[in-house]
Amino acid sequence: MSRASRKVEHLRYALETDPAGSNGFDDIRFVHHALPASSYPALSLHTAIGELAMSSPIFLNAMTGGAPETETVNRDLAVAARERGLAMAVGSQTAALRDPAMRRTFTVVRRVNPDGIVFANVGANVTVEEARAAVEMLEADALQLHLNPLQELIMPEGDRDFRRVEERVAAIVASVPVPVIVKEVGFGLSGDVVRRLARLGVTAVDVGGRGGTNFAAVENRRRAVALRGFDRWGLTTAESLLEAMHALEGRSVAVIASGGIRHGVDVAKALALGADAVGVAGRFLRVWRDGGVPALLAEIDAFHEELKVAMAALGAGTVAALRRAALVVSGATYHWCVLRGID
Ligand code: FNR
Repeated sequence: MSRASRKVEHLRYALETDPAGSNGFDDIRFVHHALPASSYPALSLHTAIGELAMSSPIFLNAMTGGAPETETVNRDLAVAARERGLAMAVGSQTAALRDPAMRRTFTVVRRVNPDGIVFANVGANVTVEEARAAVEMLEADALQLHLNPLQELIMPEGDRDFRRVEERVAAIVASVPVPVIVKEVGFGLSGDVVRRLARLGVTAVDVGGRGGTNFAAVENRRRAVALRGFDRWGLTTAESLLEAMHALEGRSVAVIASGGIRHGVDVAKALALGADAVGVAGRFLRVWRDGGVPALLAEIDAFHEELKVAMAALGAGTVAALRRAALVVSGATYHWCVLRGID
């Protein structure tokens, strides 16, 4: 199995596979505020990941590149990101580090959007030189390092040795010239992992929780014999976000929520729980598949409108004010918090 055909299979199977259960956000409800004293036209969506200022908290999370067929996908995603001023991550650039012919499938994102915020992406087990090369390839504004041990273990050709990952993350943080974001790909980060990453000096963690794209199911489609017990593995995005906020209390590490984000109210809930930004991958990919760039632009507009309606209804004029909105955590997510000592 070549790396390029794996990239195409990931796109196809991610689109054909159902979410890994709930993202947990239906357990979280805002306390409706009938006297909001807000003004919809005056709302601000500005936020930041560390020093990186963003005009919207929503960004297109890492998906693709690395096979000839993926260049048009990255081009269309980058056009949408440019038109709506959203940050955008590319998929893992390892393919282009090994094979220069694949570079264009990633650099198209910078060609299309020369002034936009672009995140480079590689696995957390790469060398410092590879990490630097990934950033340079895109003149990237930040570097995402993905942690995906379960995906690798289910993937027939995946990595089997994770002993040096923390060491590598620390070395990369110390030597790349841009902020480093460490992310999961749909199984979530626990509070303990978030604390360790904070000690390594990362700028941001992206919880990459369960409830959307299900890489256990995707990799199982690529195996002769499926490992079916992993279909519901991992922390939901809501659980992982609550763990991260609890673990980081008082520390200056930015938190990104992602994993199964469906609409602007999910975004509002993630921000209210303390996230600084919110990544969307699978939902935007499906909308693009069904209707191309025009549909994706309309979807991004709907996300923004829904987020702003929620903010106006709650009396929150800014992302910072949204953090003070009253909410109630119930159901399985509440149970998780009790058992994990999160108050
Ligand atoms: C991904 N994701 C991903 N993440 C990463 O860090 N590097 C990568 O190369 C990829 N590749 C990739 C391909 C495809 C087709 C999809 C849909 C996703 C994971 C992605 O960034 C995100 O963490 C998860 O998909 C969870 O978010 P959603 O999809 O539930 O919104």
